[in-house]
Amino acid sequence: MKTYDDIAEWYDQWIGTSAMGDDPIFAEVAALMGDVSGRRICDLACGQGRVARYLAQSGARVVGVDLSAKLLAIARRHEEADPRGIEYVQADARQLDEPLAGTFDGVLCFMALMDIQDLAPTFHGVTRILRPGGWFVFSILHPCYHTSRSGEMETAEGTVRTIGRYFEEGHWRSDTRPGPPGRVGSYHRTLSTYLNTLTAAGLQLVRLSEPQLSPSNTNRAVWSDVPSILIVSSRKP
Ligand SMILES: C[S@@+](CC[C@H](N)C(=O)[O-])C[C@H]1O[C@@H](n2cnc3c(N)ncnc32)[C@H](O)[C@@H]1O
Repeated sequence: MKTYDDIAEWYDQWIGTSAMGDDPIFAEVAALMGDVSGRRICDLACGQGRVARYLAQSGARVVGVDLSAKLLAIARRHEEADPRGIEYVQADARQLDEPLAGTFDGVLCFMALMDIQDLAPTFHGVTRILRPGGWFVFSILHPCYHTSRSGEMETAEGTVRTIGRYFEEGHWRSDTRPGPPGRVGSYHRTLSTYLNTLTAAGLQLVRLSEPQLSPSNTNRAVWSDVPSILIVSSRKP
């Protein structure tokens, strides 16, 4: 099975150079995080650091955490070229503990939980590294519309999203998808698994968001009809 270290250069080029501020999904994430200025924030599974750089630019004190040494090397190159005070740490999201425990006002995990093999230890770790009252926001491929057997079908009324194997949790990889699910694959969990595991880890659900993309924001008309992305906002009591 391939890892993000195997595809680091490809991933860096695939996500391109467009600013996070231009991304309609990130705009919704930013609204759920609120003002980050002066806050200590963990960008969990930060990859090559595009979100960490945006948060630091917005005034946050940012620690980026990722498992991939190669993506972190790209992130550190950006930091050297344009210093924003971001600290990058190589760590496994499933083993978050000291010295990060209780130190963050917020944890953001942007488009990465479906790349992380185990959910429960990850959510427990997030709870550990947040201060009381701190927030945890994550965005994922919407589990109701991305499965190992999801696709599109042309009908007389237009394109519709088709879904199968929703209840089959675990790793899947596509031979046809252009993004990470076609390269490293993805871990599927049902919506109830995501939310029940979150609350079992001691986090309180605050808000769900399923952004509807306008035709000008997507080249796939189907994402104006059903949500491609799910965003979840939660809080440590
Ligand atoms: C789709 S990328 C998203 C990266 C970044 N958040 C972004 O939006 O560009 C998924 C990331 O999850 C990271 N990842 C996967 N498993 C991980 C783990 N167990 N601990 C930490 N990071 C992990 C990968 O290395 C990769 O950087």
